[in-house]
This record gives sequence, C-alpha cells and structure tokens, in this order.
Amino acid sequence: MTFTSYSPSNLTDKVGEARAATSAEIVEALRRAKRAQENWAKVPAPARGRVIANVGRLVEKNKEALSKLVTREMGKVYREALGEVQEVIDTCDFFLGEGRRLYGQTVPSEMPKKNLFTFRNPVGSVFVITAGNFPAAVPSWYIVPALLAGNSVVWKPSEFTPVVAEALTSLFHAGGIPQDLLVTVVAEGAETFKALEEGLKQGLINKVGFTGSTEVGRRIGAKTGEYVQSACLELGGKNPMVVMPDANLDLALDGALFAGFGTAGQRCTSLGTLWLHESIHDQFLARYSKLVEEAKVGDPFQDVLYGPMISEKYLENHLKHLGMIKGHHKVSGSTGVGRITAENPRAGFVGDPSQGIYAHPTIVSGIKSDDELYYTETFGPLVTVGSFKDLDQAIELSNGHGYGLSSAIYTTNPESVWRFREGISAGMVSINNSTSGAEAHLPFGGNGKSGNGSRQSGIWVLDQFTRWQSMNWDWSNKLQKAQMDVIEIEHNPDFTL
Ligand code: UN1
Repeated sequence: MTFTSYSPSNLTDKVGEARAATSAEIVEALRRAKRAQENWAKVPAPARGRVIANVGRLVEKNKEALSKLVTREMGKVYREALGEVQEVIDTCDFFLGEGRRLYGQTVPSEMPKKNLFTFRNPVGSVFVITAGNFPAAVPSWYIVPALLAGNSVVWKPSEFTPVVAEALTSLFHAGGIPQDLLVTVVAEGAETFKALEEGLKQGLINKVGFTGSTEVGRRIGAKTGEYVQSACLELGGKNPMVVMPDANLDLALDGALFAGFGTAGQRCTSLGTLWLHESIHDQFLARYSKLVEEAKVGDPFQDVLYGPMISEKYLENHLKHLGMIKGHHKVSGSTGVGRITAENPRAGFVGDPSQGIYAHPTIVSGIKSDDELYYTETFGPLVTVGSFKDLDQAIELSNGHGYGLSSAIYTTNPESVWRFREGISAGMVSINNSTSGAEAHLPFGGNGKSGNGSRQSGIWVLDQFTRWQSMNWDWSNKLQKAQMDVIEIEHNPDFTL
C-alpha cells in the first residue's frame, strides 16, 4: 500500500508518495535503531551537540524550501510555515549547547570520605509518533533532544505529511546522524499500534513520544504502562481565552483572531472557547464577528489568515463538530458554514475554493457548560464563545472540561493575572497574548486530558529522554552504613533564653 500525498490547497498537485510500512517492517526498524543506539551513546555528548548544530545549519540553509513544502503538503500559510521551520532551527540552537552541559550533580554525602554524584543516561531507543499539523517543528521537539541525549529514534510521522517527513529526515542524515539512528517509517495507525506492542514486548522501545488525540494517547499510555515504560503524551486542548472588562480590547481581538483561526484552528494550542465578561460580551462578539467575516481565507501562499484543512479527514471532523451546534447557539463569522464551495461561497475568498479543502470560519456563541461543544476539542476553524460574571466563574469554566494545555487571559489588572495563573489547570498560560505560539525553549505540555504531565522543550524535555543514575563513591576504606554510621553533633535541646 502507498500513501499519496496531495496538496490540500490544490488537490491536483501531487506532492509525493510513501510506501506504507507493515508492523513487521516497523519492528525491524526499531531493531536497527536499537542496535545503532549502542555506538551513538558512546559518542561524547559535545560531539553529538556538534551534529545537532550541523542539522540546525542545514535546516536554516533549506528554510525556504522546507517551508514551501510544509505549506504545500499541510496547508498552513507560508508565513506560519516559515515560523514552524524556524522552530526546528531554534530547537537545534538550544540543544547544540546542551551537548556541552547535560549536567549531572555532585551531592554531599552524610558520611566523610564518600562522594555522591548524578548522571543523565540516555533511555535507549525512542518511538516517536506525530500528527500532521506541525509536520516539522513538533517532531523536532522529540527527535533533536532524544538524539542529543544519546538515544536512537524511529519516527512515524502523519500519513498526511510523508514528504515533509522525508525531507526533514534527510536533513538530519546530511547533518551527520547515522542512517539507522533515525529511521522514519510511514504507516497506518493499526500497523503502528501493532508494532508498538511488539516493540515493547521485545524490549526494543524504551520511551514513546506521542503528539495527537487524547483518545489515541490514552491507548498508547495504557500500552506503554503495561510494559512498565512511559510515554511523553502531548494531546488535545480546549484552550480558553478569558477577556476581562479592563482588558485592552483591540489587543484581545487580535489575539482571538489568530488563536482561533490561525492554521485553520488546527493547532493543539488553538483557541477553544472565548470567555467574555458579561459587561463587554455583546460589543466584543460583534467586533470579533466582523473581524472574522472580513478576514481573508484561501490560498496559503497568498496573504490570508488561513488556508485549507490538512485533509478530508480533518474537514469531516470539523463538519461533525458543526453538527453539535444547538438551537440556543448563535452562529457568526462567515457567509456560510462548513466546506467552502462555489455553492457555499465565502465572501472575499482568495483563489478557487474548489481546488482544495477549505472551511468557513465559524463562531458559535451562547456556549453553556453542559453543551457538547463546551467539552469537545474541535480542531478546526470553529471558536465557541460564552460569557461570565466574575473571574472565579471564568476560571471554573476554563477548567471544567478537563483539558489543560494552553490558556490565556486579557487584563490590565495584575491581581487578575495572578489569580488566573494560580487557578487555571493548563500547563501553559498567556497573559495578553494568544493561546498558540509557544516559544521553543519553554516547557510545552498539558495536564488532565491534554497529557500525562510530561513536558517538551528546553531543559525540561531532558527528563523524558534521559534517566538519572546516581552513584556513590566511598573512599574511606571501611564499610560506612548509610543512616547508621552517621555522625551526631551534640546539642542542648532544653536550652531557653
Ligand atoms: C501543536 O499544535 O501540536 O505553540 C504544537 C504553538 C506552536 C506549537 C503547537 N509553537 O502554537
């Protein structure tokens, strides 16, 4: 079987093909990678860092070509694609230096003539499974630190972006990563899951990195747990944005537009529900609706807010969510809902909608906490809007669905900032900024239905790809027993002034 990749903005444009690997082939790749890891772990970390530096420079040199491919194959606007590829470069920039750090600690012992140390050891071989919405940046968040820390990687990218995956893999190899140390396999979900189980059974997988839906993440987490392994899970979100009455409303409008509809809402950090204080609700909603109505949608190589859906599957998912709109909701934001076609046109569309898989932007207001749309991640150009009375209620509504990835508050009151930060369950909080657009060196990840507490990026991801080893070195030439042969300093417990 082969996956044929078509551009979602122009379905006659065949981007490429990839052969679908069987589970047996994936297991074989895991075996090769496992073997390659043994030698790679012996390469000094600073030398591994140099290889990551090479990769970063090569990605930089090929930034435009790779970004064009991202836009062509996945459909995000070119400016965002450039940002995505920059995120790969930023990740390499950060981790090339980590090769010279990868610090352990020296720790005082409770006994004389004894020294304690910690070391970070690579976990071994990592199985990385990623989604199509960030076909380069998110994979690099796993692959770069995993390799830097001395691991091997088998990468299963999205079947919707195999050509970007191949290009990125070739950049890693050109940078000096041995062929078997990073093996990319394109495969169907069922084959991937079978290989995951087999690989775990055979001891070929020491860590799993997964970015995708909560539903699949739950299955992967359960499977790895069965084999006493752990997965780094980056799952869905229903990211709230709270607008307080004291907020700079122009700024909040800009933020809500980009957070809600940038990347056609197909970021795990995209805005889920916009919570508006009741005193500004009507005015803000009217302005937001107008802004969304006037936004340019269409050809992602033109100056538009967003382009196509990643694939038909993503569009179908969006249509399913539109079916959750109920009688008490109000819909705004476009000249239609659902797929943009000649019969269901979007005013001001840039290009020819029949060429690709485009969807109208949709704002659904009047959202209540018992609506299906309140607790469902929609992952498309759909923003739900609700109102709140006070900050406590806004926080409750922001947490109540059980997701906890990203969040935002717009306010000029520092007290609201601190109360929100403390009360929100999300792993990421933006103040007067979009829910999306995290920088590549801050911990990225969520809680609850959004993840199992693992974090990517920056120094924090090292805890995913290394395991601490502690060492004690006794040079007293006698057996000193911990907790027993410890000196006591005399003191006077009855002393008073
Ligand atoms: C994702 O959608 O899986 O914070 C990642 C952001 C991007 C990454 C999103 N830097 O929006």
